[in-house]
Amino acid sequence: MSKLCCFLCTITFLHLSKFVISERELLPTPPLPILPLPSFSQLKWQQRELIMFLHFGVNTFTDSEWGTGYENPAIFNPVGLDANQWVDTTAEAGISLMILTAKHHDGFCLWPSKYTHHSVARSPWKNGHGDVVEELVNAAKNHGGIDVGLYLSPWDRHDRRYGHDLPYNEYYVAQLQELLNKYGDVREIWFDGAKGSNVPNMSYYFSDWFAMVKELQNSINIFSDAGPDIRWVGNENGFAGNTCWSTINRTSLSIVNASIDYLNAGDPKGTDWLPAECDASIRKGWFWHKSQSPKKLSKLLDIYYNSVGRNCVLLLNVPPNSTGLISESDVQRLKEFGTAIDTIFGTNLAEKCFIKVSSQRGGKDGVFGPENVIDSDHLWTYWVPRDKEKEDSWIEIRCNKELRFNVIRIQEAIGLGQRIKRHEVYVDGKKVAEGTTVGYKRLHKLEKKVVYGQIVRIKFLESRGVPLISSIGLHYDPF
Ligand SMILES: *[C@@H]1O[C@H](CO)[C@@H](O)[C@H](O)[C@H]1NC(C)=O
Ligand SMILES: *[C@@H]1O[C@H](CO)[C@@H](O)[C@H](O)[C@H]1NC(C)=O
Ligand SMILES: *[C@@H]1O[C@H](CO)[C@@H](O)[C@H](O)[C@H]1NC(C)=O
Ligand SMILES: *[C@@H]1O[C@H](CO)[C@@H](O)[C@H](O)[C@H]1NC(C)=O
Repeated sequence: MSKLCCFLCTITFLHLSKFVISERELLPTPPLPILPLPSFSQLKWQQRELIMFLHFGVNTFTDSEWGTGYENPAIFNPVGLDANQWVDTTAEAGISLMILTAKHHDGFCLWPSKYTHHSVARSPWKNGHGDVVEELVNAAKNHGGIDVGLYLSPWDRHDRRYGHDLPYNEYYVAQLQELLNKYGDVREIWFDGAKGSNVPNMSYYFSDWFAMVKELQNSINIFSDAGPDIRWVGNENGFAGNTCWSTINRTSLSIVNASIDYLNAGDPKGTDWLPAECDASIRKGWFWHKSQSPKKLSKLLDIYYNSVGRNCVLLLNVPPNSTGLISESDVQRLKEFGTAIDTIFGTNLAEKCFIKVSSQRGGKDGVFGPENVIDSDHLWTYWVPRDKEKEDSWIEIRCNKELRFNVIRIQEAIGLGQRIKRHEVYVDGKKVAEGTTVGYKRLHKLEKKVVYGQIVRIKFLESRGVPLISSIGLHYDPF
């Protein structure tokens, strides 16, 4: 007993003396976070940047976007369905999460739900023994590195319980239990408020839904017009607001009747971390139609700059065709898109330059220096100016030869909150870009062709607390 005590005393003594001796060499601490902060799962979601959406179901066979609910399950027969092809296409484009429409507004279920007859079980596909959700989950698991998300439409045009609050909500929660219990990890669940006119009025028991979802899947993100984890951006063009805060007041949002402008821009005073997801389709429609073809690469890049480049995640829909495969034209376009992104952002011209800053937290020997903005960590290593520089701090990229670029990338260390309210970019003393929010990633695609210059200065004019810059890039987009 006494030996142990003495041993502990010695340890304590050693610790104390070590503390005293090295106190002067301690590193400066990071500044306090500015609330609200993202959750662990929200951070992981943000870092994906791109997510694939797969609209697939009876509409794929009827050339329609909104099914009536009266479709005969006999029409669902994707004889060549191969979820491995979906997964390979996704992985090749550098995308790590795929969200499938397990049930769309027509009520037809892509898995054999025990609570309805309106499902794959009544279709000729695999003699009624098929399960599209399971095929996707297995293909993703076999590939590795690909996660799955699910969409379960609240509006159901088939089920007779729809319009009757208690029975329909019981049915809906029962299906959530099937989907979230049986298929392993589900990383995102998608709820929307879409509804036609002349539809029976009914209340969705969102509190019950969300609580059930979180009970069954602890790292899942729930998407809806109003969160709780991810919000809708307010349109289906894939464009975020020029100002886009990840913060917002959830109490000001409603799931079926959201304010579009508020969703688009967020709220610098918002008390909830609820980042926006931009949904857009690679084609005109959400479901596959023989007559449609994929958007041009330039259009997809435009969407990318206005979603990922405005602090959002892009949810890009690529609909499988009636054979059960992603059409060759979409596969090719997606490949081009992935390659274009790699080409543009694979080279950071700022890396070879000298970086100068207005000031540095903890002085030059600290860990918050400008070198952090050109390393490969875009979250937890960052440059921090001195505390008093909440306004008018700057970072300057000085190169000894002339650079040619047309994209400027700025990233905040959002793990400590979103802060920047206003910034400007100068090349050799001339202003080339300005903006408000930055967030996880801000991209300025310079409209006036290409810029040549040696000194690029980014000024942070207004910020909630000192700005924390995790990455800066100068890139060339040849497309
Ligand atoms: C729909 O129901 C809600 C709540 O039950 C009610 O507030 C609303 O007025 C109803 N709307 C219509 C059009 O009946
Ligand atoms: C939906 O929002 C609009 C405009 O903000 C408003 O006029 C309308 O009353 C709202 N409807 C419901 C059911 O809240
Ligand atoms: C959001 O909530 C904060 C804190 O309560 C408040 O200061 C702010 O004005 C709210 N935003 C809006 C648009 O009401
Ligand atoms: C679906 O896409 C695959 C792969 O490109 C193709 O072989 C098949 O013919 C397409 N099916 C239809 C109905 O277009």
